[in-house]
Amino acid sequence: MIRAASLADLPSLVALENSFPEVDRFDRRTWRRLLAGQTATLVHETDGAIDASAVLLFRQGSAIARLYSISVAPAARGRGLGARLLAACEQQAVSRGAAALRLEVRSTNSSATRLYVAAGYRVIAQIESYYPDGEAALRMEKNLIAPSDGAP
Ligand SMILES: CC(C)(COP(=O)(O)OP(=O)(O)OC[C@H]1O[C@@H](n2cnc3c(N)ncnc32)[C@H](O)[C@@H]1OP(=O)(O)O)[C@@H](O)C(=O)NCCC(=O)NCCS
Repeated sequence: MIRAASLADLPSLVALENSFPEVDRFDRRTWRRLLAGQTATLVHETDGAIDASAVLLFRQGSAIARLYSISVAPAARGRGLGARLLAACEQQAVSRGAAALRLEVRSTNSSATRLYVAAGYRVIAQIESYYPDGEAALRMEKNLIAPSDGAP
């Protein structure tokens, strides 16, 4: 089940992050800010336990939403959960008025990059030294609204 997260999910969200390299983790304070801001946090639950999360950021006046984070617990990976959560994020972005979804991914993160390419994202830029450890990011984007063909 995919649903919107609430403050009550804070401990589970922090626990999910603990399986990731420390440099890429959000701490409790960051999660608290994200849950309260102009964001949408979606979580996936299996038997009442959160095993995946994704955070979208919105900016007033911008038609581009940002996928700020997506993570699936190691034991739940490779079964299409990431793809389903990404699709739910796209629906959420469209429902909040976005026309495109943009994200940054570590240039060496092949499983995430494959997921995005398979879902229709294309690389629009490479940004050197994007991450605190100096790694480059690929900036990727997908149009969420089919371009009008101009037909009446
Ligand atoms: C990137 C990430 C979110 C992908 O999540 P996931 O749930 O494993 O993603 P999916 O299962 O949808 O797709 C992953 C693989 O499983 C395969 N797959 C999808 N559905 C499947 C199914 N039903 N049966 C078997 N395999 C399947 C996909 O083809 C894909 O294979 P590939 O890596 O060879 O291309 C996850 O690896 C993760 O949390 N990584 C750490 C955090 C991270 O890097 N986040 C992205 C930061 S930008």
